[in-house]
Amino acid sequence: MADTITLPLLPLKNSVLFPFALMPLAVGRPQSLAALEAASKGEEKLIATFTQRNPEVDDPQLADLSHFGTKAVIRRMARADGGAQALVQGLERIELVGLDLSAAYPTATVRSAPLPTDTGPEVEALQRELIELAAGIQDLIQGEPRIDFAELAGQLDDPGQMVYLLASMVGLEPAKAMALLEAPTRLEAMRLLHEELVREKQVAEVRQKINKQASSEMNKEQREYLLRQQLRAINEELGEKSPEQAEVVQLRQRFDEIKLPEDVRKEAERELKRLESTPAAAPDFQVTRGHLELLLELPWSEMTTDNLDLTAARVVLDEDHYGLTDIKERILEHLAVMKLNPEANAPILCFVGPPGVGKTSLGQSISRALGRKFERFSLGGLHDEAELRGHRRTYVGAMPGRVLQALRRAHVKNPLLMLDEIDKLGSDYRGDPASALLEILDPAQNSTFRDNYLDLPFDLSKVFFITTANTIDTIPRPLLDRMELIRLSGYSDEEKLEIAKRYLLTRRRKDAGLAPEQLVIPDATLLAIIRRYTRESGVRELERTLGRLARKVALRIAQGDASHVTLLPTDLKPFLGSERFFQESARKTLPAGVATGLAWTETGGDVLYVEAVLLPENDHGERFMLTGQLGRVMQESAKAARSYIVSHFAALGIEPSMGGVHVHVPAGAIPKDGPSAGVTMATALASLYSGLPVRNDTAMTGEITLTGMVLPVGGIKEKVLAARRAGLKCVILPRENARDIGELTEEVQQSMRFEYAERIEDVLAVAIPQLAERLAAVPAQ
Ligand SMILES: Nc1ncnc2c1ncn2[C@@H]1O[C@H](COP(=O)(O)OP(=O)(O)OP(=O)(O)O)[C@@H](O)[C@H]1O
Ligand SMILES: [Mg+2]
Repeated sequence: MADTITLPLLPLKNSVLFPFALMPLAVGRPQSLAALEAASKGEEKLIATFTQRNPEVDDPQLADLSHFGTKAVIRRMARADGGAQALVQGLERIELVGLDLSAAYPTATVRSAPLPTDTGPEVEALQRELIELAAGIQDLIQGEPRIDFAELAGQLDDPGQMVYLLASMVGLEPAKAMALLEAPTRLEAMRLLHEELVREKQVAEVRQKINKQASSEMNKEQREYLLRQQLRAINEELGEKSPEQAEVVQLRQRFDEIKLPEDVRKEAERELKRLESTPAAAPDFQVTRGHLELLLELPWSEMTTDNLDLTAARVVLDEDHYGLTDIKERILEHLAVMKLNPEANAPILCFVGPPGVGKTSLGQSISRALGRKFERFSLGGLHDEAELRGHRRTYVGAMPGRVLQALRRAHVKNPLLMLDEIDKLGSDYRGDPASALLEILDPAQNSTFRDNYLDLPFDLSKVFFITTANTIDTIPRPLLDRMELIRLSGYSDEEKLEIAKRYLLTRRRKDAGLAPEQLVIPDATLLAIIRRYTRESGVRELERTLGRLARKVALRIAQGDASHVTLLPTDLKPFLGSERFFQESARKTLPAGVATGLAWTETGGDVLYVEAVLLPENDHGERFMLTGQLGRVMQESAKAARSYIVSHFAALGIEPSMGGVHVHVPAGAIPKDGPSAGVTMATALASLYSGLPVRNDTAMTGEITLTGMVLPVGGIKEKVLAARRAGLKCVILPRENARDIGELTEEVQQSMRFEYAERIEDVLAVAIPQLAERLAAVPAQ
């Protein structure tokens, strides 16, 4: 079955939300309210909307809902008495697969249903026709703002998008709108819409005729003036103001109460004036009001005072995180600089490391130490520059960018703003968010950052930016140059044990409402959880598992089955199920041609085997075959390794062989790349050609050059930890990587043997002891 996902369900009574379209919603039903709340608490704020076939039904079942609906994101939500107002934006068309009405709010299982993409002369002709019709209707209606439909169509990449936009502007009957969403081809959707627009245009023409007659003696301004006078008179008579006018008065009051920079006040004044003379029904009214509210809510001058007491900061950092000594030290250095030179901009830090090692929580901790407000959002998968910089207000459904939204939430202009996943930033035809980010992070430019929606400069220079990433490889160079890198590497099992004992268990126990003596987990049990139920560099899964245990124990105690629980390793199975991971263990014996290497991945280190076999001389396939999804760099390094070994047969005391070679690196389904397996490849080949096995307790890493030199590589800490987890005793490293050993805890350093190599012969001497004897006889090069 195609991929399905489950989302909170929002049944719509009298409307259809189209993909790409924005729609304000008033939600009253408690079920819908609960769904909306749940969705808006989710990270992505996603919700599934389906239209009811019959608006009268209050608890729609599967059959009461349209088959096609729209996945939407909640852009804004405000509670009103008894209900809520929300602004949702359609993202993509979805199909309804199932409903679950048993929980606190209804959820829908849905599958994405991509829009049709048929083209052809008729589609193109209809598209032009639709644009002309829309423009024609607009001319007849005479409202503000004017939309240039032809230009709009040029900006949209999908004619389907155009259809939905027009349809949501016209406001179709639900049944027609549903048919439009369900249309199996673009052509059909366009025909449907065309029919509607033609009718709409006729209606508009008739209206205009009537209007003309009514105002034949007066010109437009005179008439408006008159009407306004009448309205005022009526209102005064009744002693009340229209709700919209009251709103403008209120807005003005709020502006009078706050302090604003000169240029902002001027702009606000101009807009308030405009608002007073705009009829509330005009689309412009809401746009201007939204903008004024932003002006009101942005922290133009509010700041928190930094707490720069370094001793207190150290206490806070230690309170929240175990270990990370170097990192805490570097953070304190930055705080010291901020203390000595308060005028200087806050540093821009970038935390790089595998998931769950505490990047985000360190950021929170720093904000706590400094006494700054904390805000964050993720840059992952962000493609559209406007997400950061905002849309111009003329754009339908325009919003300020995420940076300003974060500041608005923070209420101060100097929060600590964490930008997660800077390494997953996208870029495409919708603009380059990286360049917007460059401006945001540039101390020379960000004091006058201009958001398209706000359209006034805003000062970001007081914001303390921290970005996080799993790898620096995909961060654009200019961005990287702007940030101070702080690397966090994975934790060893012993470190995880300490973190679990001192932090995670305490927290999870408290969340479950348990007193310390009610749940005791001895070290041996914790270690068993770490080794057999989780496999990760960080501690996120570990924390989750402890949370699960704590809840299960809480349930037992609440049921009166026990008053306190001490968990032994043997108790884990009933609580957590069977062990999820068997301890990775090194292969017991290695035949000639197999060598143990070490890999670094975004999620930590791994042991990997390089396997080589000789092909028979009469095999006429490839002479040198490489498999296991090896990237280009890795293939090249395999070739370099082979060339070196083959050209040194004599020196290595190896009999030349005429057959080809096949090198494979399992697991074949995982793509691998990078030069760091070079020495492992060379060792596997030397072992293969010489027929002498490689030591099975030894792993190696390093890049190799064509002349046999061993060059340093990255990820040493993760790699050594992986080797240790697998039960290996010795690791061969490039000489230049010797300095990285300091990153390992004393305990790890003591428990492993490290050998350093400058040339491949140094590697071979350790890895293939029997070859070492032969090498000893060969003079060094
Ligand atoms: N050294 C530590 N001491 C105490 N708790 C820690 C430590 N490292 C991580 N944690 C805890 O582990 C959990 C996961 O950390 P966090 O969410 O900060 O990870 P992350 O590095 O941001 O991961 P990701 O890259 O997936 O965003 C948090 O609850 C955090 O407090
Ligand atoms: Mg994080």
